[in-house]
Amino acid sequence: MDGISRILYDQATIASAVKRVGAIISEEYRDKNPLLIGVLKGSFIFMADLVRVLDIPCEMEFMVAKSYGQRTQSSGVVEILKDINTDINGRDVIIIEDILDTANTLFSITEVLKARNPASIKICVFLDKNIERKVPVTADYKCFDIENEFVVGYGLDYAEKYRNLPYLGVLGV
Ligand code: XMP
Ligand code: MG
Repeated sequence: MDGISRILYDQATIASAVKRVGAIISEEYRDKNPLLIGVLKGSFIFMADLVRVLDIPCEMEFMVAKSYGQRTQSSGVVEILKDINTDINGRDVIIIEDILDTANTLFSITEVLKARNPASIKICVFLDKNIERKVPVTADYKCFDIENEFVVGYGLDYAEKYRNLPYLGVLGV
């Protein structure tokens, strides 16, 4: 594909990582009917694959958020462009994200959701980027750790392109 300099993870490698994470979540959330909240758009392919390897009852929601990044570390720095339609009071919530980078987005989303009194909140990401973070967010479940380079495919985009690649690639010439 034009613009991709290297394939990081091919389809088979991704599928087995998603299966591994799905098995862990199925084990830990048996009888809990977790609510999986996908953060759009980046998480849509990961979420679709992940829920199909879960062998437990679960529900799904999606939200769209816009983060204002570094400006402040308090809650309210995220603008929710599309909120969920489910009351999460007392629910076991798992936030599904494509990638943990600066973590500003996930930090803000987590703060917003915590204020609604869920029984628990965990974070599941497809990728965890190896960078130093200013906010205290860690992934509870992840498929891969990656180095600090810009990746696309499997839901992740560059200027809205490449989301449909079935593999994860590094952008470059
Ligand atoms: P953070 O953690 O910095 O991430 O709040 C916010 C969003 O930025 C996107 N992002 C990337 N997208 N390749 C991408 O295609 C990348 O390497 C990358 N790093 C961050 C992603 O949408 C994430 O949710
Ligand atoms: Mg995203």
